[in-house]
Amino acid sequence: MKSIALIGFMGSGKSTVGSLLAKIAGLDFFDLDEVTTELAGADVADIFSNQGEEAWRTWESRALKQVVEIRERVVLACGGGIILKPENREILRSQFLTIYLKTSVEVLIERLRHRKNRPLLDVADPKAAVARLYDERWEIYEAVPHAIIRTDEKNPKAIAKEALAIIKEVSANDH
Ligand code: S3P
Repeated sequence: MKSIALIGFMGSGKSTVGSLLAKIAGLDFFDLDEVTTELAGADVADIFSNQGEEAWRTWESRALKQVVEIRERVVLACGGGIILKPENREILRSQFLTIYLKTSVEVLIERLRHRKNRPLLDVADPKAAVARLYDERWEIYEAVPHAIIRTDEKNPKAIAKEALAIIKEVSANDH
């Protein structure tokens, strides 16, 4: 059975839900931003400011491939931009059961207001940046996953339970 990947926009709850899901499913949890920064030997903000966004994307792809190499089944919370590279999309389709945590742009703007350490939102008008990125990406988020969970007005525990139900259903159909 494949590992589980959670995708979605920044602030959609991938890391919180992912670690809860891993716990209730009895699997190891990985946060791709962390795997990437360990591999690169620098934090997200430093990589963006010193090497640029493209370099981040390259490190992130390498980190994704590293997770694929893990022999056991794991839960992986991906960075919001993972869906931008076609090669990553291919891996998410073929090597993982990929679940999209779908959050409305209004909720995201509210949640991301006070969050730090997100270089793409470290701009004069972060609200406009969220809206623009959402506009650019929403179609890709919808096209990549095997399943979608709407997250507005749900707490992380409820979302993790929904994800577990999806995993069980897919596992049952696999046999
Ligand atoms: C990014 C999302 C971030 C991180 C980087 C770029 C994006 O991850 O990978 O700042 O392009 O959406 P989170 O979604 O975990 O915040």
